[in-house]
Amino acid sequence: MGNQPFQHLPNYWLSHSVGRPLKNASEVLTEQYLNHWQGSEPWPLWLQTIQEFKEQASQLINAEATTVCPQLNVSSGLTKMLNAMCKGKPNPKILLSEADFATISFVAKQVPNAELRYLPANADVTVLSTWTDYLQEDLDVALITHVFSNTGMRAPVKEIVAEYRSRSIRSIIDVAQSIGIVPIDVAQWQADVIIGTSVKWLSGGPGAAFMYVEPSFCSNLEPSDVGWFSHQDPFEFDVHNFEYDQTSHRFLGGTPSVAPFAIAAASIAEINRIGVTNILTHNQHIAAQLTADTPATWWHSPALETKRGGTLVFKPPEDISNRLLHAHQNNRIFLDQRATGFRLSPCWTNTEADIAKFKRIISGN
Ligand SMILES: Cc1ncc(COP(=O)(O)O)c(C=O)c1O
Repeated sequence: MGNQPFQHLPNYWLSHSVGRPLKNASEVLTEQYLNHWQGSEPWPLWLQTIQEFKEQASQLINAEATTVCPQLNVSSGLTKMLNAMCKGKPNPKILLSEADFATISFVAKQVPNAELRYLPANADVTVLSTWTDYLQEDLDVALITHVFSNTGMRAPVKEIVAEYRSRSIRSIIDVAQSIGIVPIDVAQWQADVIIGTSVKWLSGGPGAAFMYVEPSFCSNLEPSDVGWFSHQDPFEFDVHNFEYDQTSHRFLGGTPSVAPFAIAAASIAEINRIGVTNILTHNQHIAAQLTADTPATWWHSPALETKRGGTLVFKPPEDISNRLLHAHQNNRIFLDQRATGFRLSPCWTNTEADIAKFKRIISGN
């Protein structure tokens, strides 16, 4: 793996929650944030830091930097976007899934007079036919999770978007669990909006989320949640004149935070350098070894790599579960548990030694 930029913690499998930090995270924070603050006038340099985040994030998804707007988290970006998309619609119809991360539903429920239609929790979201079964012509927006957090299932986004788009149904894709581990190309997807976060597979920490908005669609949206950075000339300061910025920045709002974007820009730069395809290949290589020598029925994530994101879901018999829980309590393994099973997310820093450690724990040695 050559020069490893991220910090390795033995037997750490939690990149679906918090990715491993950069080894030089504190230097990055000092150089790109504190030094600018302690030096002279910080804002011109801080804005460059945010611009660097936009450039790295847009490179990751094959988009122009102007189409990427920094956000605090997925929930906040989705709130602004969904309300802007549903503005003026007396009874907007929104498709989502019971298997989405809960925040998606919580946000959608707040849209005035919205009618929410759910794919059931047990639907096979990895096949296009499930999504076309729930395609109704009167839908306004489809909320599509790319990789589902509790099952590791990966939805065929490009095909789903094409079907919905051909009926003029807009799409918002939640890439929180896929960005940085599954390659994403917005030019191929043709989705209207994608929303992601840096805290998981991007190893960028919390507070550095982003929203991609397709430019021609963006120019028709009028978000209600604005601020001076949403104005086309933030430094004009004429209280009687507000005009939306021409780019995705109309969704920026007030003064942006800087520190989270400084760290995330540096970690995404490393991910761009390594390449998401290489990271996924490494993930699949480790996953193949983790799942080998155990019954397939113990693994509740999809066996087929094309239907899976980066996370494996492991539900072994009770004695093995207890061993894992015990090892977890003693900090000998770092994973978490949902109703679907234990979640194990092989990341770029995981090694053969981590696989051996996992196997020793489950075999009771
Ligand atoms: C699929 C998915 N979407 C969104 C989120 C988090 O949303 P937010 O950034 O608002 O906390 C998570 C977090 O686990 C997630 O797994």
